[in-house]
Amino acid sequence: MTDASQQTAPRLAGRVGNLERSKIRVMFDLAEEYDGDPIRLHVGVPDFNTPEHVIDAAAAAARDGETQYTVNRGIPELREAIADTMACENGVEYAPEQVTVKTGAMEALSLAVLAVAGPGDEVVVPTPAWPNYVNHAQIAGATPVEVPLHADDGFDLDPELVGDAITDDTAAVVLTSPSNPTGRVYDEDAAREVVEVAAAHDAYVIADEVYGRLTYDREFRGMASYVEHPDHVLTIDSCSKTYAMTGWRLGWLAGPRPVVDAVSGLGESTTACPSSVSQQAALAALTGPQDPVAEMKAAFEERRDFVVERVAEMPVVSCPRPEGAFYAFLDVSELSGTSFEIAKRLLSEYGVVTAPGDGFGDAGEGYLRLSFANSLDRIETGLDRIDSSRRGEGASPPRPRST
Ligand SMILES: Cc1ncc(COP(=O)(O)O)c(C=O)c1O
Repeated sequence: MTDASQQTAPRLAGRVGNLERSKIRVMFDLAEEYDGDPIRLHVGVPDFNTPEHVIDAAAAAARDGETQYTVNRGIPELREAIADTMACENGVEYAPEQVTVKTGAMEALSLAVLAVAGPGDEVVVPTPAWPNYVNHAQIAGATPVEVPLHADDGFDLDPELVGDAITDDTAAVVLTSPSNPTGRVYDEDAAREVVEVAAAHDAYVIADEVYGRLTYDREFRGMASYVEHPDHVLTIDSCSKTYAMTGWRLGWLAGPRPVVDAVSGLGESTTACPSSVSQQAALAALTGPQDPVAEMKAAFEERRDFVVERVAEMPVVSCPRPEGAFYAFLDVSELSGTSFEIAKRLLSEYGVVTAPGDGFGDAGEGYLRLSFANSLDRIETGLDRIDSSRRGEGASPPRPRST
């Protein structure tokens, strides 16, 4: 029998071909080709366990029969807890009816774009930025418009630059603060201006605030709390980074009712509802003791300070001071090669895995993203090896895996 897939190209929709693979995942796969234990500084996953009381609450809920579909937009107790937390922690006032719970910030973001943008529309993404936003726009049939921010002010939000990219075709602008990959917390006046321009063009600003509670040098306020048009802001947040819950897949969108209803409606045909057990876990996380968050944040801050000091000791390598999240964006443009080549060399010759900056948009070329969601020891070893590579010193390369 002949296998049809060997003779003809498989039938796939055009949008699949347009999607770019995340360079973070590419490095992840490349690291798998080596034996041993490379220093993995490429992924944005907190190196802590989900707090014990959260796991206990989820297990108890599962035993008590909380194992069935829930309402599309999430159980009312959780939406209430989310609204309370957003008000207390980020100063943003939303009614529980303005919240829809989704399978991670990822689903909330993707459905938000699907809800407001379609063919002929544009989605403005200031870069360097998390690569998935561009894919979300493409999946929606909209056109992503990258706006490269300036390196010389640490990739802060430039309202004029971004404002100029907003037109009547713009359906949404995605602002991530604190930023992945730079750790920059956007200036509030700048964000206010961008929301103003977006509102004037009847566009939404999607405020991705998944790292909001991991802000170090200043108080973080949710964008919807200080802009003049909160009705044009769609706030995204999740339990993933704040509570070390990436695998529970629990996030949410809060915003004006018509968009919240549209996102809930779209979700009915994708996941129907977020996992019932994860909703119980999130409820325990948001309403239980917050000490684990404070402890994780203190650990990240200590590592951030270490990274900033260690990088400052390296001639030709530098990084803007991360004000939030757990990433440092290292300027390695003085080293030879593109950022992807440098990342591959660091892996194959020095056993350190980083994410090449061009994976976050053209503005990131010449940079490497380093995640400090790792132990101080391993961060130190990783930075020592980057320093050795800068000096052209040899290191013991990891052994390729025999297949
Ligand atoms: C900026 C940003 N937004 C959203 C997400 C996705 O979060 P979640 O795990 O809640 O889907 C990530 C994950 O790395 C992220 O960095």
